[in-house]
Amino acid sequence: MPVMRVLILGSGAREHALAWRLRRDPDLTDLICAPGNPGMAALARVCPVSLDDPVAVLALAERERIDLTVVGPEAPLDRGLADVFGRTGRALLGPSRAAAQLECSKAFSKRFMVAHGIPTARFVVCETLGSALEAVDGPRFGFPVVVKADGLAAGKGVVIAANREEAVRAVRAAMVDRQFGPAGSRVIVEECLTGPEVSFFALCDGTSAVPLGSAQDHKRVFDNDRGPNTGGMGAFAPSPLVTPELSDVVMRDVVARVLEGLLGERERYVGFLYVSLMLTPDGPRVIEFNVRFGDPEAQVVIPSLKGAVAAAFHAAATGHVLDAPMAMDGHCAVGVVLASRGYPGAFDAGKIITGVDRAAALADTLVFHGGTRQVGGELHSAGGRVLTVVGRGTTFADAMTRAYAGVSCITFDGMHYRRDIGARALAAGC
Ligand code: AMP
Ligand code: GLY
Repeated sequence: MPVMRVLILGSGAREHALAWRLRRDPDLTDLICAPGNPGMAALARVCPVSLDDPVAVLALAERERIDLTVVGPEAPLDRGLADVFGRTGRALLGPSRAAAQLECSKAFSKRFMVAHGIPTARFVVCETLGSALEAVDGPRFGFPVVVKADGLAAGKGVVIAANREEAVRAVRAAMVDRQFGPAGSRVIVEECLTGPEVSFFALCDGTSAVPLGSAQDHKRVFDNDRGPNTGGMGAFAPSPLVTPELSDVVMRDVVARVLEGLLGERERYVGFLYVSLMLTPDGPRVIEFNVRFGDPEAQVVIPSLKGAVAAAFHAAATGHVLDAPMAMDGHCAVGVVLASRGYPGAFDAGKIITGVDRAAALADTLVFHGGTRQVGGELHSAGGRVLTVVGRGTTFADAMTRAYAGVSCITFDGMHYRRDIGARALAAGC
């Protein structure tokens, strides 16, 4: 397929990064983003659509004669979007509802890992309050112990409990107070692992996969990894910890086993597979799977993909064996998230943003919109994570300098961000 009309689903900085890269692809004739955001509107046609409604999304793809639909967030996949497209034969890059349970149910994901020999932390799935209290109390895991809500909880469903009181509080918050709604009706109690965390990405076509790069996210809101967890305050790529040897191990012991395991259950995994890994003294262990690209990892990985990206995505979506690894352009990238006052709690919105064009005009600096709204001639904040400013360079020092030069151009009331994104890569001597 030499020319393509592509639809990107989503409205965040991850999807803006996908749009930016696909716009540079010579195979692309038309790009539509739905629902999109003001940053994507500068690169593509944006169409309003509810991602909660698979039938409406399919109707849009049919009306626009879309050759390839690329799905950003996980929620539409959990609602069966890929299954609806699959029935009509229209190409979509994203897994079926059944395969999406790898992310959407931690209990499914943990049991799947055990069944298929994928290395992960020891755990128990607890269906009742009694069994959860027993699990955190028993000698099996010791302290700290990890308590996780089973379902999707916007990255907030995990507590690392230092002692029994904290563990009991976490169990009760999920199962009794229903702090995460139905996501907390089951909890997983698991051993606490230690080691650096990395994000690893693969592009899968149902039977085989190629690596798509690696990154390191910064989940805590404040510098030096302090404060509450967020969706991600910044990332750098590639991860210096993911050597070619480690990449081979992850492809063999994790990604290939996911594909084979699902094939055994008559499911094919198509799309991006995001493996969150902890590099423990005993080797890499899977913390969790996501059935989509990471945010903010996409903003630092996707722009570096080299070659015919749209063709590779289309080949994966249509089940063609991928035979060549996706090439990267060799850049180091550092992405800094600019967040609204209050985030990751209740946050401000509607603040006027200035300086985005000035930042984006700097050499090797990209600005991706996460939560913005165009109001007449003004750009307003409209989310917790408002923008990601990405600096690229031949070294991490270069990339950091460019990212923070971009950040210094931008202002909005209450804006906050971490000042140490990329520092860990520098400390690793890169
Ligand atoms: P998750 O939502 O499963 O990605 O977990 C959120 C964060 O909690 C991860 O990024 C880790 O930093 C931490 N975490 C999750 N599981 C464990 C574990 N078994 N041991 C140590 N830290 C963990
Ligand atoms: N960066 C974490 C996530 O996308 O879930």
